[in-house]
Amino acid sequence: MSILVTGGAGYIGSHTVLSLLEQGYEVVVFDNLSNSYEESLRRVEKITGRKVKFYQADMCDPEAMEKIFSENPDITSVIHFAGLKAVAVSVSQPIEYYKNNIGGTLTLVETMKKHGVKNIIFSSSATVYGAADELPITERSPKGVCTNPYGWTKWMIEQILTDVQTANPDWNVILLRYFNPVGAHQSGLIGEDPQGVPNNLTPYIAQVAVGRRPYLNVNGNDYNTPDGTGVRDYIHVVDLADGHIKALQKMDSMTGGVKIYNLGTGKGSSVFDVLHAFERACGRELPYVIAPRRPGDCDANYADPSLAEKELGWKAKYDLDDMCRDAWNWQQKNPYGYKGKD
Ligand code: NAD
Ligand code: UD1
Repeated sequence: MSILVTGGAGYIGSHTVLSLLEQGYEVVVFDNLSNSYEESLRRVEKITGRKVKFYQADMCDPEAMEKIFSENPDITSVIHFAGLKAVAVSVSQPIEYYKNNIGGTLTLVETMKKHGVKNIIFSSSATVYGAADELPITERSPKGVCTNPYGWTKWMIEQILTDVQTANPDWNVILLRYFNPVGAHQSGLIGEDPQGVPNNLTPYIAQVAVGRRPYLNVNGNDYNTPDGTGVRDYIHVVDLADGHIKALQKMDSMTGGVKIYNLGTGKGSSVFDVLHAFERACGRELPYVIAPRRPGDCDANYADPSLAEKELGWKAKYDLDDMCRDAWNWQQKNPYGYKGKD
């Protein structure tokens, strides 16, 4: 029995491959390395002492998908991380985003169907809720209007997988809606390695802390939040990886259906909360300027994660200080990420 991890060389994928190996699962990974390095998997091998079966392959390529499934007839479940995720790029390149994320998922699912693989866990996002009316956000909150093509790909893939399950009632589909994944494995050997200028908050702060950027731009301090800066639900990537293990275990008892779970901590933190936690981690004050709001940003969002606790037995263990400590450990040890230079 093997678990196929798509996009497994990436940030969340590599942490999940590590957890799977530590739990004794057999794992097959593919990635086209468009936003990652195979080095992440070499490091997972170093941490676990186990080999990772890796294919450099594109999920949009039906022959490559066919080869992976036919060479690994013991694949029983798929954890599907592969996709493009840069929000701003998706606005300027919508065709590439729809083609890759949706087209690739269709090819993957078609190949699964052909080979009788009926279990899939999908990396969705809190972005599918749009601007939620009520906080905390529960899974019963309606899906909303997304503000960018990236968000729409998540929205639509959720629908596609739901429709596939309706047509194939013995399929088990779990949609995991992540809030804001941050941090790194405690070893400092694997972590988030954004290409170019980071879009997201913690990698940006980490690059300020390590001297690659002069200061943080705080995108707006006039939001309707306690300190005026945006509030989000940050979740440690190691907790998130564990959520995938719990979801896989849940699938063992499912007899066909679609399940949706929020993966967050349930606690909102502001931009200043994160900045100050990072300052505690690196032991010095970090410079910032107040910059204009970023288009599409909301005041606040955070999860109600209680359904995942009730049905998966999963609960986040790490707090914001842990997340910043581990992000800083990774950044210090790998100031320029896996490739070691700018
Ligand atoms: P990532 O970019 O590090 O990982 C995605 C991986 O998919 C990369 O290694 C990339 O090379 C690979 N990939 C992209 N297109 C591919 C294709 N056509 N064929 C094969 N491989 C392909 O991103 P991540 O942060 O690890 O995110 C993993 C998943 O979780 C993504 O689907 C992302 O949209 C989703 N997600 C991420 C966040 C976040 O904040 N990081 C939040 C919510 C959801
Ligand atoms: C963003 C994406 C979301 C995606 C998620 C993945 C947007 C609009 N949303 O969410 O679709 O699923 O990443 O993690 O891009 N901030 C700063 N300065 C910075 C960067 C961010 O002040 O340099 C602020 C933002 O305004 C926000 C908070 O930090 O209030 C978090 O931002 P970010 O890490 O980009 O996550 P989201 O916007 O929540």
